[in-house]
Amino acid sequence: MRSATTPLDLLVPAPEHLPVDPAETRLAALYDEGTGSGVRLRANFVSTVDGGAWGPDHLSGSINDDADWRVFRVLRAAADVVLVGAGTARHEGYTALDRPESLPAAGDRPLELALVSRSGRVPQQLADGDRPPLVLTGEAGARTASRMVPADRVLTVASAHDPDEVDLRAGLAALADRGLRRVLCEGGPTLLAALLAEDLVDELCVTTSPCLVGPGPSRIVAASPAGAPGEAPAPAGIPATPPTPARLAHLLHAPSTGTLVARWLLR
Ligand SMILES: NC(=O)c1ccc[n+]([C@@H]2O[C@H](COP(=O)([O-])OP(=O)(O)OC[C@H]3O[C@@H](n4cnc5c(N)ncnc54)[C@H](OP(=O)(O)O)[C@@H]3O)[C@@H](O)[C@H]2O)c1
Repeated sequence: MRSATTPLDLLVPAPEHLPVDPAETRLAALYDEGTGSGVRLRANFVSTVDGGAWGPDHLSGSINDDADWRVFRVLRAAADVVLVGAGTARHEGYTALDRPESLPAAGDRPLELALVSRSGRVPQQLADGDRPPLVLTGEAGARTASRMVPADRVLTVASAHDPDEVDLRAGLAALADRGLRRVLCEGGPTLLAALLAEDLVDELCVTTSPCLVGPGPSRIVAASPAGAPGEAPAPAGIPATPPTPARLAHLLHAPSTGTLVARWLLR
C-alpha cells in the first residue's frame, strides 16, 4: 500500500508534432547522446501495456508498429554496434546489419552486430553470412563459436568466477577496444536482466504498444527466457536488481495508435 506523501504535480505536455522526415532530424536530436568518449549502452525494447515482451508468435515484431520503427531506425543510425543475446538472434532471425537508409549515420563503418552467448552457438544464417557477428562468450563457448565464425570475431571474455560464463563488462571493453563505443542492445529479456544487474545500462528506451497479450510472454527483463521455445536456461547467477531510479528524458505519443515511446536515463 502507498504511504501518504505530498501530492506531486501532474503535467499535460504541450504537443509538438514530429512528422515523418526522411532524415528524422528532430527525432534524432531527441536521442542525441552528446559527445562523451566513454562506452555508452542504450537498450531499446518494446512492451505491451500488460508488460509482455513478445506477441503470440513469440516475436517482438507482432507487438511493435510504425512509431516504434521510426525510433528503432534512429537508434540504429546512432550506434556503432548492436548487441543482442543469442536467443534473440535465433528467434528473430538476425542477419548482418545495414545502416538505416536516408538517416545520417554515426560513422562510416558498417553497423556491427555482437552476440552474447554462453554456448557459443551462432545462428547458421549469421555464421554463413558475408559479415559474421562478433561473439562475446566464455571459454567453452569460444571453442564452439570458433568453428562457426573466423577466430578474430570471437571475443573471449570469461568471468573470473566461472570461465564458461560471460563477463559482460569485459565484453563492452572488448568492443570499445575495436572502436565500438556506442552500443545499442536490442534484446532480449535475459540479456537485459544481466546487463542491468551489472549496472551497465545507461539508458532504456521503451515503446509501450497499445495492446495486451496476457500472462504467457515474459517482461522485457527476465531471469529466464520463459516461454521462448527451444532456449537454454538463463545463465546462472543473475541476481535480482534493487530498485533503480530512472529519469524520463522524453515521452512521445503517436495519437493515431496510442503508442507511447519513452526514453529513460538510468544515470
Ligand atoms: N520486446 C522486445 O523488445 C524484445 C527484444 C528482443 C527479443 N525479444 C523476444 O525475446 C525472446 C527471447 O528472449 P531471451 O530472453 O531468450 O533472449 P536473449 O537474452 O536474447 O537470449 C538468451 C540467450 O542469450 C545468451 N545470453 C543472454 N544473456 C547472457 C549472458 N549474460 N551470458 C551469456 N549468455 C547470455 C544465451 O545464449 P546461449 O543459449 O547461446 O548461451 C541465452 O540462452 C524472443 O521471443 C524475442 O522475440 C523481445
